[in-house]
Amino acid sequence: MYNDNPTIKGLEKKVDETKQGEVFFKEHSNDDGRKFYIESYGCQMNFSDSEIVASILSKTGYSPTRNIEESDLILINTCSIREKAEDNVRQRLRVFDKIKVKRPGMLVGVLGCMAERLKKKFLEEEKLVDMVVGPDAYRDLPNLISRASDGNKGVNVFLSREETYAEISPLRLGSNGVSAFISIMRGCDNMCSFCVVPFTRGRERSRDAFSVIAEATDLLSKGFKEVTLLGQNVDSYKWENPETKETVNFANLLEMVATVSPELRVRFSTSHPKDITDEVLYTIKKYKNICDYIHLPVQSGNSRVLELMNRTYTREWYKERVEAIYRIIPECAISSDIIAGFCTETEEEHQDTLSMIEFAKYSMSYMFTYSERPGTVAAKKYPDDIPHATKKRRLAEIIEVQSKASLESNQRDLDKSFEVLIEGDSKRSDKDFKGRNSQNKMVIFPKKENYKKGDYVTVHIHEVTSATLIGTIKD
Ligand code: 5AD
Ligand code: SF4
Repeated sequence: MYNDNPTIKGLEKKVDETKQGEVFFKEHSNDDGRKFYIESYGCQMNFSDSEIVASILSKTGYSPTRNIEESDLILINTCSIREKAEDNVRQRLRVFDKIKVKRPGMLVGVLGCMAERLKKKFLEEEKLVDMVVGPDAYRDLPNLISRASDGNKGVNVFLSREETYAEISPLRLGSNGVSAFISIMRGCDNMCSFCVVPFTRGRERSRDAFSVIAEATDLLSKGFKEVTLLGQNVDSYKWENPETKETVNFANLLEMVATVSPELRVRFSTSHPKDITDEVLYTIKKYKNICDYIHLPVQSGNSRVLELMNRTYTREWYKERVEAIYRIIPECAISSDIIAGFCTETEEEHQDTLSMIEFAKYSMSYMFTYSERPGTVAAKKYPDDIPHATKKRRLAEIIEVQSKASLESNQRDLDKSFEVLIEGDSKRSDKDFKGRNSQNKMVIFPKKENYKKGDYVTVHIHEVTSATLIGTIKD
């Protein structure tokens, strides 16, 4: 889900994979008008933001293109979460600079999380870009573009306490026509000591619940079958209805979205272990269309390291939450984010992370080496003292234990049947479909007449790898 790759992955790749994407680009292209090309890096939130940006641009006469060579405006939606992500953006900007030489008048803009930190560098020192726009300033894009067209480089990195883009209907750029993201909140107030997000995306704010429901209803009417509610910390979603003064919490919002239609699957990400409540777990249990899958990043399995990370929970607290999930929703899959080699982490503490993977039986994890980010509490207070080679070795051990846990999790699914939402052709063969079960596991199975993308089918599993379930449709 995290895309740190400098090649055009992300949006481009997703669009390539889907006919729906093709249709979208044809429908929205305007041969005479100006064209924009957008490339996204990082988390799902960034991909979701690019769809908001596309919507704003389409209202000012720009249409999207997948062909960078014919674009009048190149936008790169950036991620700052690790150093590598930032390096990749720099490389891409150099590539864009070469294209620019061939297309005078073409503009290049940097959007997203790198905007605040690197605005000066990009605009003044490296002269690589024409505008730098932070995550809360996308409404200002038309203005910045028109100023940049007149040769005035522009910056807007203002972070808002209110902006949620609530009423903007995103243009589903890279969509497969089946699943879509809905942003339910922005920013983060948690201040995990390693994380740059509170600085790049600002304070936490929740979106109007009714605008979330309206978006889900609209998606359903357009044939979508699955929505993922997005936020840095969805469990702290809180919105007050200005008329009734009633507060909508995350469990209430989940229930509201689930009752839009039993045909619409509901997913959500990311949950914070300190905030996930039994109320949320019982709501998941109550509705079949709320998926049995929770992304619950642990970061470290050791209480001392968790304290340094300012995660505000202990190993014991996390284990209790995992037990509660499996007790209330026995079929639930849990996934995680894990950081190897955080400041001062000892070998014993690293072992606690390995044993946590086994305890929690994660179906999968996103695993990283610690990367010091300027301005964070960890960068200011703690030494980045674990040698690179040690971080790499610990990461390799984490990956190994997780691969085993993933395989074991999938082996427990052998001989079971799952409802799968068909997302399209499998990557390897157009004779097979791919789709996901409620637990968010990828399922591959041979096509059968009368079934198409967007249908729910029951698939019986007869073979597994650590990454995939393989089965056949049960009529
Ligand atoms: N170094 C390494 N990984 C990080 N993450 C966030 N900040 C850092 C960092 N400085 C990881 C965390 C988080 C995920 C989105 O990225 O695991 O959950
Ligand atoms: Fe970063 Fe922690 Fe907020 Fe996640 S919860 S975005 S890791 S500060």
